[in-house]
Amino acid sequence: MKPLEGFEKPRFPKISVVGAGQVGTAICAMLLVRNITKYVVVLDVNYELAKAEALDFQHGSVFMGDPRIVPCGDGSHAIDSDVIIITAGARPSDKDRSRLTVMHKTVEILKDVVPKMVKLSPKAIYIVVSNPADVMTYAVQQIGKLPKHRCFTTGCHLDSVRFRNFIARRFQLPPSQVEGYVIGEHGSSAVPVWSSVSIGGIRLSHVVKDLACGDDPENWSEINEQVITGGLSVAKTKGYTNWAVALTCADIVQALCGGKGKIASVGTDMKGLYGFKESVVLSLPCLVTSGGISHVFQLPLTDVEKGKLQASADTLMEAQCSLKL
Ligand code: LAC
Repeated sequence: MKPLEGFEKPRFPKISVVGAGQVGTAICAMLLVRNITKYVVVLDVNYELAKAEALDFQHGSVFMGDPRIVPCGDGSHAIDSDVIIITAGARPSDKDRSRLTVMHKTVEILKDVVPKMVKLSPKAIYIVVSNPADVMTYAVQQIGKLPKHRCFTTGCHLDSVRFRNFIARRFQLPPSQVEGYVIGEHGSSAVPVWSSVSIGGIRLSHVVKDLACGDDPENWSEINEQVITGGLSVAKTKGYTNWAVALTCADIVQALCGGKGKIASVGTDMKGLYGFKESVVLSLPCLVTSGGISHVFQLPLTDVEKGKLQASADTLMEAQCSLKL
């Protein structure tokens, strides 16, 4: 082969995934198999692990449209990334499974990783998946001094697809045909917005009275519980969740890189919206498009939903305040 003078390789969106654990590698798999990108950097402090995972993907390149998959240990190959997905975090130990302990340990990891990444890719869009996702997004925004439209979490987009799934199962419908949002914390104070649920353009609350509140004779509130414990019920057996969160993340990256954009309940600093006077990272329906989050939608909420959202924000603000940044 003789190189032709003047030829320049086209530039594909470069996506770096920080953390080659169960979640990070599942995200890489979804991005590659769904052909969302042709260029993935698999980054882990354990370079041998990053190398092994990258190699495993490389071996299957012919089935994924010949992507470029690069392992990285120190961040250097992540330079000039378009999207950086952060999945790195502490694991709960058997002795101490406390959410707060994990949160503080993960912040220490982020304090090390984020400045390096921001230096190498100052213009990238940062997606935070590490849990607790909302509080960790607040931490990444503060540590990296990143603007809220360019640093956000997949947050309640995952809870929203779980919500749609549980409702669809009751009606024996395809989940994609049910619309609806979960907002607030990606965690125990998440708010399923029953007033936003629609099926085939018909608002469910117009058809079913007392949805998940009041007498609730059909026990719709069971779904609230299922949404909140959705991740835990999987993690109880396999120790973690990875496939649904990876698909959720890939869906958001497609909205960023695919040129179409989409409305999804993702989380960023919502100060100044919905009456929040202080910085608080939580999920609300947003338009996610090539530059990040361009708009936040003002959902018409019932008084009960407004109260729950405020309670969720209070929980998150308390957690944010406890961070040692
Ligand atoms: C879940 C994890 C990713 O809900 O938070 O599956």
